[in-house]
Amino acid sequence: MIFIDSSNVREIERFYRMGVIRGVTTNPTIMFKDGVIGGLEGVKQRSIEIANLVSPYPVSIEVMTNDPDGMKEQAIEFSKWADNIVIKVTIHGPNGELDNITLIHELEKACNVRVNVTAIMSAQQCLLASLAGATYVSIFGGRVNDMGSNVCSEITKTRKVFDSLKLNTKLIIGSVREVLNIVEWYEVGADIVTVPPNLLERMFMHPYSKETVQMFLNDAGKIND
Ligand code: E4P
Repeated sequence: MIFIDSSNVREIERFYRMGVIRGVTTNPTIMFKDGVIGGLEGVKQRSIEIANLVSPYPVSIEVMTNDPDGMKEQAIEFSKWADNIVIKVTIHGPNGELDNITLIHELEKACNVRVNVTAIMSAQQCLLASLAGATYVSIFGGRVNDMGSNVCSEITKTRKVFDSLKLNTKLIIGSVREVLNIVEWYEVGADIVTVPPNLLERMFMHPYSKETVQMFLNDAGKIND
């Protein structure tokens, strides 16, 4: 399945109306890039607008603090904005803090909040996030590849581990850098690839399709003559 990695309402609506997307992912960097302003109130307004637009498809919204109590408070608050909001929590803090995993477990098991564990780079992180109860895990494929490894190996391993342990966590791959990544990552076991609007548009296009369509139109004109 394809999710769109964006908080641009116009772009989300465009691809939603084509029927090709089944969910939305965002993060603070994407929201900043897409012009969200006004602090948490701005985040709330944009999140609700997107969630209503694509309902019942899931919309991932990330907590915006690293403070353990603050993360929990935001996760619970954000999850109440709409029924289809999923809360993104990073696999650990910027210094490897592991409060995140305890929070992920608590949100899923005790607070009825669906969690997308994000900023993941490896199969072993996926396994632990899944065991903690995550509904989704997000490997950042392009960032793994940027470091000189091929993320396909981590996707393949994660798929095998999830299947052999019968773990139901859905495997999202984000951080798409090239159009070819999308089908390539499904081929090795992704459930979902989350794609930014510019690459979604390029997925459709083929110069030879354009040329072929022009040939049909030219010849249709000749039939009418
Ligand atoms: C995925 O869920 C993330 O939002 C995103 O794909 C990260 O992409 P980047 O590595 O291009 O920032």
